Amino acid sequence: MWDADAYKRALDFAARAHGAQQVPGSGFPYVVHLTKVAAEVMRACTHQPSADATLAVTCALLHDSMEDAGVTKAQLVQQFGAQVADGVDALTKRDAVPKPDRMRDSLTRIAAQPPEIAMVKLADRITNLEPAPPHWSAEKRSAYRAEAHEIARALAGRSAWLDERLQTKISEYAIT
Ligand code: NI
Repeated sequence: MWDADAYKRALDFAARAHGAQQVPGSGFPYVVHLTKVAAEVMRACTHQPSADATLAVTCALLHDSMEDAGVTKAQLVQQFGAQVADGVDALTKRDAVPKPDRMRDSLTRIAAQPPEIAMVKLADRITNLEPAPPHWSAEKRSAYRAEAHEIARALAGRSAWLDERLQTKISEYAIT
């Protein structure tokens, strides 16, 4: 089971870091996305008693803090320790990598991390496979779904619960 104090500490940190940022297209504060990802991970952890739920939930809440909120790895090491910082770093796409390769590069680094980090990535895509914004073209939706397949393939086997849930969300995702 996850530690509630760790959850609250990570949520406070993430809320402060993301500030006024919103979930694109919804007008919701960005923490709404983060807590949805954390909820997916929590549910998965109840099926997987061997998982370090505190690590998984903490990384879920912090997963976009480096990529989208300018938090540094050093700050995460200082606040949450090296294991969390390494996990969030793997979940962060690198600007130095050419854009078409960024997801694959991140997935390779996630795959080398403990399974809890892959669980966060699966939960993130499950959460993001809500109906696409109306202005997205069919091509963009189709590419997003193809990328979801790539994530599912690259990280299969870390959580049977999330693997299955991602497959369901992919099949329900409307591309037209
Ligand atoms: Ni995210």
